[in-house]
Amino acid sequence: MEPATQLDAIKHYTIQKLGNDETGHGIDHIKRVVRMARQLAKEEGIDPFIPVAAAYLHDTIDEKLVMSVKEAQSELREFLRKIDFRNDQIQAVMDIITQMSFANTLEGQRPQLTLEGQIVQDADWLDAIGAIGIVRAVYYGGKHGERIYDPLIKPRENMDRNEYRNLSHETIINHFYEKLLKLKDMLNTKAAKRVAEHRQQIMLEFLDEFKQEWDAEK
Ligand code: ADP
Ligand code: NI
Repeated sequence: MEPATQLDAIKHYTIQKLGNDETGHGIDHIKRVVRMARQLAKEEGIDPFIPVAAAYLHDTIDEKLVMSVKEAQSELREFLRKIDFRNDQIQAVMDIITQMSFANTLEGQRPQLTLEGQIVQDADWLDAIGAIGIVRAVYYGGKHGERIYDPLIKPRENMDRNEYRNLSHETIINHFYEKLLKLKDMLNTKAAKRVAEHRQQIMLEFLDEFKQEWDAEK
C-alpha cells in the first residue's frame, strides 16, 4: 500500500474511534496535531510519515477515552498490520503513543522518546497551550464538573501520576499551574519552543486579566 493511502486509512480509523468525542480530543484537535507534527518534522529535516501516523493515532488508546487500553492497543496493532505497516513501523508508532503523555513525565524519569516521538509530543502539547489551549481546558473542566476558580484551593506541587489523573475535582485555573504553564519548558524541539513563546504569553495575560476581574467582583 502507498504511504499516502496508509495515512488516509489511519485518518479514517481515528475518525471512527474519536469522531464523537466531546472532551477536547475531537477530530479538530487531531487535525491540528497532525499539521503541527508535519511542520515540525520538516523543520527537523526528517521523514514525516511516522510522526504523522502517530499524531493521528495518539488519542485512540487514551485511558480516558477507551474502555480497555489493552484491547484498544491490540486492535490498533491489528489494523496497522492490515494496512501493511512493517513490524518496526508498528513498534515505532506504539512506542510513541504509549509514552508521550504528560502524565508519563510525572513518574520519576521522563521516558526517552525518539526524535519522531519528540515531535508528536511537542505537537500535542502545543495544542494544549495558547488560546486554543485555554478553551480546551475550560471545555474539559466543564465537562468534568470542575469549578472555574477558588483562590483558597492552591495548585498542587510535584503531583505524581495518580494525583494528576484524579484532577477532576480541582479547578480549571489550577490546571494552568499544574500543567499548561509548565509545558513550554518541557518541549523537545527548537521550532516548538519558538511557537510556545507567544502562546505562553497569551496564557499569562489571560490569567492576569482573569484574576483582576475576579478580584474586582468583590
Ligand atoms: P492531550 O490531548 O494532550 O492528551 P489530555 O488528554 O491530558 O491532553 O487533555 C485534553 C485537554 O483537556 C488538554 O487541553 C488538557 O490541557 C485539558 N485538560 C486535561 N485535564 C484537565 C483538567 N483536569 N482540567 C482542565 N483541563 C484539562
Ligand atoms: Ni492529544
